Amino acid sequence: MKFRIFLVLASCITSVVTGLVLSRVGSSPESAKSRTKPLIGLSMDTLKEERWQGDRDLFVARARELGADVLVQSANSDDTRQISDVQALISRRVDVLVIVPHNGGAMAKAVNMAHDAGIPVLAYDRLITDCDLDLYMTFDNVKVGELQAQFLVDRLPKDRKSKIVRIFGAKTDNNALLFKKGQDNVLKPLINSGRIDVVHEDWTQDWKPENAKKIANAAITKAGSDFDAILASNDGTAGGAIQALSEEGVAGRILVTGQDAELSACQRIVNGTQAMTIYKPLTQLAKQAAEAATKLARSKPLFALGKIDNGKNEVPSILLDVVVVTKDNMMDTVIKDGFHTAADVYGDRPPP
Ligand code: GAL
Repeated sequence: MKFRIFLVLASCITSVVTGLVLSRVGSSPESAKSRTKPLIGLSMDTLKEERWQGDRDLFVARARELGADVLVQSANSDDTRQISDVQALISRRVDVLVIVPHNGGAMAKAVNMAHDAGIPVLAYDRLITDCDLDLYMTFDNVKVGELQAQFLVDRLPKDRKSKIVRIFGAKTDNNALLFKKGQDNVLKPLINSGRIDVVHEDWTQDWKPENAKKIANAAITKAGSDFDAILASNDGTAGGAIQALSEEGVAGRILVTGQDAELSACQRIVNGTQAMTIYKPLTQLAKQAAEAATKLARSKPLFALGKIDNGKNEVPSILLDVVVVTKDNMMDTVIKDGFHTAADVYGDRPPP
């Protein structure tokens, strides 16, 4: 089975479109033809976090606007369950699969199963590795890590060695590796020069806040609360860490980073216990992914600006930009975008 995706080099958009035709065309004719509306299968890792509920709702709404139906499955962070979710969607003869993998490696099997059934696969936000993936859509995840680390470096004391704790994401999630890579790009020279000392670091199983809290507790046991910052990879892990700091009575004194602009994180930022988050405009990603999935289902050509090596091939990819959010630009970013309301973030406190 073949899908038509054109890889476009940014520079030639204005001049001529040169593309690398990935020499695949159209899903199994009879299923697309027999159905009036395209049917999209959306397999998600989890719906536990606020962010993923937003992705689902925005994606489904846009797909419906485009005349497509969507079947949603959530695997509750279980690989075996996610494979059987995909099998169920394939048996429902979906025209295209959109997958948020719990484990980017484990889901290669799902992509192969889909291709055997003639169904193209779009990896949403997280990469699926070591397979013939058709399209990958996400944010610039290395930049997320760079912005988080640079935010801290700009605010750490300059006149002495700084001590930090690092809380990485889930090892099963390729994004967690990319966030760490971005953070390392900024931190490594400073760690090597001795300006920054990492007193404790660990990976957070399944990105669970309670697991991040345990890592922060372990850091406090090891180093007391005498450190300057916690480089937390997302708002969920930041929330868990800040709970540990609150129990020590030092929340607000230690800089804590985040990602996802969750409502509770934005509230912590305006209240002063979290220093920043990374806002990823989900509306753009979810809408563009619904448009791409609907095109794939209808065998319409698709233009991808970039490519990412997933260990098996150069996957056509679309990377969206991200924004640092602090208490100073909260109104001009997440509130202005309508991602959250001022009332929800500031509560009784008047917005600045
Ligand atoms: C990552 C995602 C982040 C964060 C995390 C936990 O893959 O890019 O936005 O939410 O998962 O679910």
